[in-house]
Amino acid sequence: DIRAVIIGTGGYLPEEALDNDAVAARYQLDTSDAWIVERTGIRRRHIAAAGQMASDMAAEAARAALAQAGVDVSEVDAIIVATATPDSAFPSTAARVQAKLGVTQGFAFDISAACTGFVYALSVADAMLRARQARCALVIGAEVFSRIVDWTDRGTCVLFGDGAGAVVVRATEGGERGVLSTHLHADGNHADILLVDEVAGVVRMTGREVFRHAVSKLASVVDEALAANGLQKSDVKWLVPHQANRRIIEAMGKKLGLPAEQVVMTVDRHANTSAASIPLALAEATRDGRIQQGDLVLMEAIGGGLTWGAALARF
Ligand code: ACO
Repeated sequence: DIRAVIIGTGGYLPEEALDNDAVAARYQLDTSDAWIVERTGIRRRHIAAAGQMASDMAAEAARAALAQAGVDVSEVDAIIVATATPDSAFPSTAARVQAKLGVTQGFAFDISAACTGFVYALSVADAMLRARQARCALVIGAEVFSRIVDWTDRGTCVLFGDGAGAVVVRATEGGERGVLSTHLHADGNHADILLVDEVAGVVRMTGREVFRHAVSKLASVVDEALAANGLQKSDVKWLVPHQANRRIIEAMGKKLGLPAEQVVMTVDRHANTSAASIPLALAEATRDGRIQQGDLVLMEAIGGGLTWGAALARF
Protein backbone atom coordinates (compact mmCIF):
# COMPACT_ATOMS: atom_id res chain seq x y z
CA ASP A 1 0.00 0.00 0.00
CA ILE A 2 1.64 3.25 -1.16
CA ARG A 3 1.17 6.52 0.72
CA ALA A 4 2.08 10.00 -0.54
CA VAL A 5 4.06 11.49 2.34
CA ILE A 6 4.76 15.23 2.60
CA ILE A 7 8.47 15.28 3.46
CA GLY A 8 9.29 18.95 2.89
CA THR A 9 7.67 22.35 2.59
CA GLY A 10 8.88 25.72 1.34
CA GLY A 11 7.59 29.19 0.74
CA TYR A 12 8.61 32.30 -1.14
CA LEU A 13 7.30 35.85 -0.76
CA PRO A 14 8.39 38.74 -2.98
CA GLU A 15 10.60 41.33 -1.30
CA GLU A 16 8.16 44.22 -1.43
CA ALA A 17 5.55 44.22 1.35
CA LEU A 18 2.81 46.85 1.34
CA ASP A 19 0.63 47.53 4.37
CA ASN A 20 -2.96 48.70 3.93
CA ASP A 21 -2.07 52.39 4.16
CA ALA A 22 0.66 51.98 1.54
CA VAL A 23 -1.74 50.24 -0.86
CA ALA A 24 -4.38 52.93 -0.35
CA ALA A 25 -1.83 55.66 -1.01
CA ARG A 26 -0.21 54.03 -4.04
CA TYR A 27 -3.50 53.28 -5.81
CA GLN A 28 -5.44 56.28 -4.43
CA LEU A 29 -8.13 54.04 -2.93
CA ASP A 30 -10.98 55.37 -0.82
CA THR A 31 -10.42 52.84 1.98
CA SER A 32 -8.81 52.55 5.39
CA ASP A 33 -6.63 50.17 7.36
CA ALA A 34 -9.44 49.87 9.91
CA TRP A 35 -12.02 48.81 7.27
CA ILE A 36 -9.73 46.22 5.71
CA VAL A 37 -8.56 44.77 9.05
CA GLU A 38 -12.07 44.55 10.47
CA ARG A 39 -13.64 42.86 7.42
CA THR A 40 -10.75 40.62 6.38
CA GLY A 41 -7.95 40.51 8.96
CA ILE A 42 -5.50 41.57 6.23
CA ARG A 43 -2.77 44.01 7.32
CA ARG A 44 -0.25 43.66 4.50
CA ARG A 45 0.64 41.71 1.37
CA HIS A 46 3.71 41.07 -0.79
CA ILE A 47 3.82 42.28 -4.37
CA ALA A 48 5.97 40.73 -7.09
CA ALA A 49 8.64 42.88 -8.74
CA ALA A 50 8.26 43.93 -12.37
CA GLY A 51 9.07 40.90 -14.50
CA GLN A 52 8.93 38.47 -11.57
CA MET A 53 6.74 35.59 -12.76
CA ALA A 54 4.85 32.74 -11.08
CA SER A 55 7.56 30.29 -12.19
CA ASP A 56 10.30 32.40 -10.57
CA MET A 57 8.53 32.33 -7.20
CA ALA A 58 7.54 28.67 -7.64
CA ALA A 59 11.16 27.68 -8.25
CA GLU A 60 12.25 29.52 -5.08
CA ALA A 61 9.58 27.81 -2.99
CA ALA A 62 10.48 24.45 -4.54
CA ARG A 63 14.17 24.88 -3.69
CA ALA A 64 13.25 25.62 -0.07
CA ALA A 65 10.99 22.55 0.08
CA LEU A 66 13.66 20.28 -1.45
CA ALA A 67 16.22 21.60 1.03
CA GLN A 68 13.95 20.94 4.01
CA ALA A 69 13.22 17.44 2.68
CA GLY A 70 16.90 16.76 1.96
CA VAL A 71 15.92 15.70 -1.57
CA ASP A 72 18.12 16.33 -4.62
CA VAL A 73 16.54 17.57 -7.87
CA SER A 74 17.69 14.34 -9.51
CA GLU A 75 14.98 12.51 -7.50
CA VAL A 76 12.09 14.73 -8.65
CA ASP A 77 10.02 12.98 -11.33
CA ALA A 78 6.81 15.06 -11.27
CA ILE A 79 6.12 18.79 -10.98
CA ILE A 80 2.54 20.00 -10.59
CA VAL A 81 1.89 23.73 -10.34
CA ALA A 82 -1.48 25.11 -9.31
CA THR A 83 -1.87 28.65 -10.62
CA ALA A 84 -4.45 31.05 -11.97
CA THR A 85 -1.68 33.41 -13.05
CA PRO A 86 0.65 31.27 -15.23
CA ASP A 87 3.64 32.87 -16.95
CA SER A 88 1.94 32.08 -20.28
CA ALA A 89 -0.69 29.76 -21.76
CA PHE A 90 2.19 27.46 -22.66
CA PRO A 91 4.75 26.24 -21.87
CA SER A 92 3.16 25.48 -18.53
CA THR A 93 4.51 27.19 -15.43
CA ALA A 94 5.45 23.69 -14.23
CA ALA A 95 7.63 23.08 -17.31
CA ARG A 96 9.33 26.43 -16.69
CA VAL A 97 9.94 25.45 -13.06
CA GLN A 98 11.39 22.14 -14.24
CA ALA A 99 13.91 24.02 -16.38
CA LYS A 100 14.73 26.53 -13.62
CA LEU A 101 15.44 23.71 -11.15
CA GLY A 102 17.47 21.70 -13.66
CA VAL A 103 15.15 18.71 -13.48
CA THR A 104 15.47 16.61 -16.65
CA GLN A 105 13.26 13.58 -15.96
CA GLY A 106 9.60 12.95 -15.32
CA PHE A 107 6.64 15.13 -16.26
CA ALA A 108 5.29 18.61 -15.46
CA PHE A 109 1.91 20.29 -15.85
CA ASP A 110 -0.32 23.03 -14.42
CA ILE A 111 -3.67 22.81 -12.67
CA SER A 112 -6.36 25.50 -12.83
CA ALA A 113 -8.71 25.55 -9.84
CA ALA A 114 -8.19 29.12 -8.58
CA CYS A 115 -7.87 29.32 -4.78
CA THR A 116 -8.55 25.57 -4.48
CA GLY A 117 -5.62 24.84 -6.79
CA PHE A 118 -3.26 23.48 -4.16
CA VAL A 119 -5.82 21.01 -2.79
CA TYR A 120 -6.57 19.86 -6.35
CA ALA A 121 -2.84 19.51 -7.13
CA LEU A 122 -2.16 17.57 -3.93
CA SER A 123 -5.07 15.27 -4.76
CA VAL A 124 -3.72 14.61 -8.27
CA ALA A 125 -0.19 14.02 -6.96
CA ASP A 126 -1.48 11.63 -4.29
CA ALA A 127 -3.39 9.60 -6.90
CA MET A 128 -0.46 9.51 -9.32
CA LEU A 129 2.03 8.42 -6.66
CA ARG A 130 -0.28 5.67 -5.48
CA ALA A 131 -0.73 4.59 -9.13
CA ARG A 132 3.09 4.35 -9.40
CA GLN A 133 3.28 6.99 -12.14
CA ALA A 134 5.84 8.96 -10.14
CA ARG A 135 7.83 8.52 -6.94
CA CYS A 136 8.79 12.03 -5.85
CA ALA A 137 6.60 15.00 -6.76
CA LEU A 138 6.84 18.74 -6.25
CA VAL A 139 3.36 20.16 -5.65
CA ILE A 140 3.40 23.94 -5.90
CA GLY A 141 0.97 26.84 -5.67
CA ALA A 142 2.28 30.07 -7.22
CA GLU A 143 0.37 33.28 -7.91
CA VAL A 144 0.87 36.87 -9.01
CA PHE A 145 -2.63 38.21 -8.43
CA SER A 146 -1.23 41.75 -8.40
CA ARG A 147 -1.22 41.42 -12.22
CA ILE A 148 -4.91 40.49 -12.50
CA VAL A 149 -6.64 42.58 -9.84
CA ASP A 150 -8.40 45.80 -10.78
CA TRP A 151 -6.41 48.34 -8.79
CA THR A 152 -9.30 50.80 -9.07
CA ASP A 153 -11.75 48.38 -7.35
CA ARG A 154 -11.30 48.79 -3.59
CA GLY A 155 -13.65 45.86 -2.97
CA THR A 156 -11.22 43.32 -4.45
CA CYS A 157 -7.72 44.74 -4.91
CA VAL A 158 -6.97 45.00 -1.19
CA LEU A 159 -7.69 41.30 -0.66
CA PHE A 160 -4.87 39.69 -2.64
CA GLY A 161 -1.11 39.23 -2.49
CA ASP A 162 1.64 37.42 -4.42
CA GLY A 163 3.73 34.42 -3.40
CA ALA A 164 4.45 30.72 -3.82
CA GLY A 165 4.48 27.63 -1.65
CA ALA A 166 5.64 24.10 -2.37
CA VAL A 167 5.67 20.64 -0.85
CA VAL A 168 7.75 17.58 -1.71
CA VAL A 169 5.63 14.44 -1.72
CA ARG A 170 7.29 11.02 -1.75
CA ALA A 171 5.72 7.63 -2.46
CA THR A 172 6.26 5.56 0.68
CA GLU A 173 5.42 1.92 1.25
CA GLY A 174 3.18 1.46 4.29
CA GLY A 175 3.44 3.42 7.51
CA GLU A 176 1.14 5.87 9.26
CA ARG A 177 2.29 9.07 7.54
CA GLY A 178 0.93 10.50 4.31
CA VAL A 179 -2.15 11.89 2.60
CA LEU A 180 -5.13 10.04 4.08
CA SER A 181 -7.74 11.30 1.64
CA THR A 182 -8.66 14.23 -0.58
CA HIS A 183 -12.14 15.51 -1.44
CA LEU A 184 -12.70 17.68 -4.51
CA HIS A 185 -15.81 19.53 -5.64
CA ALA A 186 -16.84 22.03 -8.30
CA ASP A 187 -20.06 23.77 -9.30
CA GLY A 188 -19.66 25.79 -12.48
CA ASN A 189 -23.15 27.24 -12.06
CA HIS A 190 -21.64 29.77 -9.67
CA ALA A 191 -18.92 30.90 -12.10
CA ASP A 192 -20.16 34.48 -12.14
CA ILE A 193 -19.60 35.31 -8.45
CA LEU A 194 -15.80 35.09 -8.68
CA LEU A 195 -14.02 35.21 -12.01
CA VAL A 196 -11.49 36.89 -14.26
CA ASP A 197 -13.51 39.09 -16.58
CA GLU A 198 -12.77 38.07 -20.17
CA VAL A 199 -12.81 41.59 -21.56
CA ALA A 200 -11.01 43.54 -18.84
CA GLY A 201 -8.82 40.62 -17.76
CA VAL A 202 -9.25 41.43 -14.06
CA VAL A 203 -10.80 39.76 -11.00
CA ARG A 204 -14.48 40.42 -10.35
CA MET A 205 -16.13 39.18 -7.19
CA THR A 206 -19.47 39.37 -5.43
CA GLY A 207 -17.92 39.20 -1.98
CA ARG A 208 -21.07 38.49 0.03
CA GLU A 209 -22.07 35.57 -2.19
CA VAL A 210 -18.57 34.09 -2.03
CA PHE A 211 -18.62 34.44 1.74
CA ARG A 212 -21.97 32.65 1.98
CA HIS A 213 -20.82 29.72 -0.19
CA ALA A 214 -17.47 29.54 1.60
CA VAL A 215 -18.90 28.99 5.06
CA SER A 216 -21.41 26.29 4.04
CA LYS A 217 -19.32 24.42 1.46
CA LEU A 218 -16.17 24.33 3.58
CA ALA A 219 -18.15 23.08 6.57
CA SER A 220 -19.60 20.22 4.56
CA VAL A 221 -16.34 19.18 2.87
CA VAL A 222 -14.59 19.13 6.24
CA ASP A 223 -17.30 16.82 7.61
CA GLU A 224 -16.91 14.65 4.49
CA ALA A 225 -13.14 14.35 5.00
CA LEU A 226 -13.43 13.39 8.68
CA ALA A 227 -16.25 10.90 8.06
CA ALA A 228 -14.33 9.24 5.19
CA ASN A 229 -11.55 8.38 7.63
CA GLY A 230 -13.67 7.60 10.68
CA LEU A 231 -12.08 10.55 12.47
CA GLN A 232 -13.47 12.99 15.03
CA LYS A 233 -12.98 16.75 15.01
CA SER A 234 -10.78 16.34 18.07
CA ASP A 235 -8.34 14.15 16.08
CA VAL A 236 -7.31 17.19 14.00
CA LYS A 237 -4.11 18.74 15.34
CA TRP A 238 -3.82 21.60 12.84
CA LEU A 239 -6.28 23.33 10.55
CA VAL A 240 -4.36 24.83 7.62
CA PRO A 241 -7.07 26.61 5.63
CA HIS A 242 -6.91 28.62 2.45
CA GLN A 243 -6.20 32.16 3.60
CA ALA A 244 -8.87 34.43 2.11
CA ASN A 245 -10.38 36.08 5.11
CA ARG A 246 -9.94 35.88 8.88
CA ARG A 247 -13.68 35.63 9.49
CA ILE A 248 -14.05 32.55 7.25
CA ILE A 249 -10.99 30.94 8.87
CA GLU A 250 -12.26 31.60 12.40
CA ALA A 251 -15.68 30.21 11.49
CA MET A 252 -14.03 26.97 10.35
CA GLY A 253 -11.88 26.76 13.47
CA LYS A 254 -14.98 27.20 15.62
CA LYS A 255 -16.84 24.56 13.64
CA LEU A 256 -14.04 22.09 14.37
CA GLY A 257 -13.92 23.11 18.02
CA LEU A 258 -10.25 24.01 17.64
CA PRO A 259 -8.60 26.69 19.79
CA ALA A 260 -7.12 29.55 17.76
CA GLU A 261 -3.59 28.23 18.48
CA GLN A 262 -4.32 25.16 16.33
CA VAL A 263 -5.48 27.17 13.32
CA VAL A 264 -2.62 28.36 11.13
CA MET A 265 -3.22 31.97 10.09
CA THR A 266 -1.12 33.95 7.60
CA VAL A 267 -3.80 36.10 5.96
CA ASP A 268 -2.84 39.06 8.17
CA ARG A 269 0.64 39.23 6.59
CA HIS A 270 0.19 37.54 3.18
CA ALA A 271 -3.42 38.48 2.25
CA ASN A 272 -5.04 36.00 -0.14
CA THR A 273 -2.34 34.36 -2.28
CA SER A 274 -4.86 32.00 -3.89
CA ALA A 275 -3.30 28.58 -4.65
CA ALA A 276 -0.12 29.54 -2.78
CA SER A 277 -1.78 30.22 0.57
CA ILE A 278 -1.94 26.68 2.00
CA PRO A 279 1.63 25.61 1.11
CA LEU A 280 2.93 28.99 2.35
CA ALA A 281 1.12 28.38 5.65
CA LEU A 282 2.48 24.82 5.83
CA ALA A 283 6.00 26.13 5.24
CA GLU A 284 5.63 28.64 8.06
CA ALA A 285 4.12 26.20 10.56
CA THR A 286 6.65 23.42 9.91
CA ARG A 287 9.61 25.83 10.12
CA ASP A 288 8.53 27.41 13.40
CA GLY A 289 8.02 23.98 14.95
CA ARG A 290 4.25 23.97 15.25
CA ILE A 291 3.53 21.10 12.83
CA GLN A 292 5.49 18.04 13.95
CA GLN A 293 5.93 14.63 12.39
CA GLY A 294 2.88 12.52 13.18
CA ASP A 295 0.47 15.46 13.42
CA LEU A 296 -2.86 15.22 11.62
CA VAL A 297 -3.32 18.27 9.36
CA LEU A 298 -6.61 19.28 7.76
CA MET A 299 -6.42 21.53 4.70
CA GLU A 300 -9.45 23.13 3.04
CA ALA A 301 -10.07 25.73 0.34
CA ILE A 302 -12.73 27.34 -1.84
CA GLY A 303 -12.26 29.52 -4.88
CA GLY A 304 -13.39 30.56 -8.33
CA GLY A 305 -15.27 27.96 -10.33
CA LEU A 306 -16.69 27.52 -7.83
CA THR A 307 -14.20 24.91 -6.75
CA TRP A 308 -13.69 23.64 -3.21
CA GLY A 309 -12.06 20.75 -1.45
CA ALA A 310 -10.24 19.34 1.55
CA ALA A 311 -7.25 17.11 2.24
CA LEU A 312 -6.25 15.22 5.38
CA ALA A 313 -2.60 14.33 5.83
CA ARG A 314 -0.50 12.88 8.63
CA PHE A 315 2.86 14.69 8.59
N1 ACO B 1 -12.69 49.99 1.83
C1 ACO B 1 -13.78 50.67 2.20
N2 ACO B 1 -15.00 50.35 1.81
C2 ACO B 1 -15.15 49.28 1.01
C3 ACO B 1 -14.04 48.52 0.57
C4 ACO B 1 -12.77 48.93 1.01
N3 ACO B 1 -11.65 48.26 0.67
N4 ACO B 1 -14.50 47.54 -0.22
C5 ACO B 1 -15.82 47.66 -0.29
N5 ACO B 1 -16.23 48.70 0.44
C6 ACO B 1 -17.58 49.21 0.63
C7 ACO B 1 -18.50 48.85 -0.49
O1 ACO B 1 -18.36 49.75 -1.56
C8 ACO B 1 -19.84 48.94 0.18
O2 ACO B 1 -20.20 50.28 0.24
P1 ACO B 1 -21.73 50.75 -0.04
O3 ACO B 1 -22.51 50.08 1.05
O4 ACO B 1 -21.64 52.22 0.06
O5 ACO B 1 -22.05 50.23 -1.40
C9 ACO B 1 -19.57 48.46 1.58
O6 ACO B 1 -18.15 48.58 1.78
C10 ACO B 1 -20.01 47.04 1.82
O7 ACO B 1 -19.53 46.22 0.73
P2 ACO B 1 -19.66 44.67 0.75
O8 ACO B 1 -18.97 44.11 -0.42
O9 ACO B 1 -21.10 44.32 0.95
O10 ACO B 1 -18.84 44.38 2.08
P3 ACO B 1 -18.73 43.05 2.88
O11 ACO B 1 -19.06 43.30 4.29
O12 ACO B 1 -19.38 41.91 2.21
O13 ACO B 1 -17.15 42.81 2.87
C11 ACO B 1 -15.59 41.38 1.72
C12 ACO B 1 -16.49 42.60 1.63
C13 ACO B 1 -14.52 41.65 2.74
C14 ACO B 1 -15.00 41.13 0.36
C15 ACO B 1 -16.46 40.20 2.18
O14 ACO B 1 -17.59 40.07 1.38
C16 ACO B 1 -15.72 38.93 2.13
O15 ACO B 1 -14.80 38.71 2.88
N6 ACO B 1 -16.12 38.02 1.24
C17 ACO B 1 -15.47 36.75 1.09
C18 ACO B 1 -14.85 36.72 -0.20
C19 ACO B 1 -13.40 36.48 -0.14
O16 ACO B 1 -12.75 36.39 0.87
N7 ACO B 1 -12.90 36.37 -1.31
C20 ACO B 1 -11.53 36.16 -1.52
C21 ACO B 1 -11.34 35.53 -2.84
S1 ACO B 1 -12.21 34.06 -2.94
C22 ACO B 1 -11.47 33.00 -2.02
O17 ACO B 1 -10.29 32.94 -1.93
C23 ACO B 1 -12.39 32.15 -1.31
